[in-house]
Amino acid sequence: MDDIQQAVKDKYGAIAGSVARGEASGCCGPAACGGGDPITSNLYSETDTAALPRDAVAASLGCGNPTAAAALEPGQTVLDLGSGGGIDVLLSATRVGPTGKVYGLDMTDEMLALARENQRKAGATNVEFLKGTIEAIPLPDGSVDVIISNCVINLSSDKDAVLREAFRVLKPGGRFAVSDVVVRGEVPPSIRRSMELWVGCIAGALEETEYGAKLRAAGFADVEIEPWRVYEIADARAYLAETGVDVDLLAPQVEGKFASAFIRARKP
Ligand SMILES: C[S@@+](CC[C@H](N)C(=O)[O-])C[C@H]1O[C@@H](n2cnc3c(N)ncnc32)[C@H](O)[C@@H]1O
Repeated sequence: MDDIQQAVKDKYGAIAGSVARGEASGCCGPAACGGGDPITSNLYSETDTAALPRDAVAASLGCGNPTAAAALEPGQTVLDLGSGGGIDVLLSATRVGPTGKVYGLDMTDEMLALARENQRKAGATNVEFLKGTIEAIPLPDGSVDVIISNCVINLSSDKDAVLREAFRVLKPGGRFAVSDVVVRGEVPPSIRRSMELWVGCIAGALEETEYGAKLRAAGFADVEIEPWRVYEIADARAYLAETGVDVDLLAPQVEGKFASAFIRARKP
């Protein structure tokens, strides 16, 4: 496990512990985020969350709603890369029904414990949480219809491995439908160097054309990248304030450069 992966694991282990103790709501960025966090807030409709356990919603750490990006059908097998507290797994489980199956994959023990507790509270029997990394998915070749993921691939230091593995486990015709933070154009190198920002989902994001190129290199076709929430300076200032970087210097260079996007592709 590299330093970045260990730092990510420590961070999400601590967040899972807080949610389990009822101390904090979910938060993808540094300590300042919470209810008003521009990245993780207002991602799901009330209809979506009404039927879910409170802690599954409180632990929502994503930057989109990948279950809205994929047309899930009864009987399908779905895999959520970096499933966290399990919100997208539980939403998908309802959509694929009793003849379908949803796997949640996460490397952090505390998150897996929280997710399994949320599964128990939701009474979901077509769900299985697996321990492992998204760079080495513990599932056989050609076994999954749809891969979803919510704000996790940007955390990986080996995105080529993640995309290769996603391609391997998908069935021919299978779909990749994830939500992730993307960079649009040039970004100051100091942002990419900051481990704090990396762990907080920003500095590890791919530039959008690079994301598409990596998906095609992994073998995917029909690649679409659709930014749907572009972060403004005000959002970036709040996000960066906790990290010790010079916000006044960076903020103007960050405006409009970061977005949450739906990323879709198909295995031919
Ligand atoms: C930003 S949270 C997102 C959680 C969930 N997808 C959601 O929307 O609430 C990132 C999650 O991915 C997991 N994670 C990060 N990097 C991972 C990796 N390389 N392999 C497996 N899990 C990873 C973390 O443990 C954490 O639970």
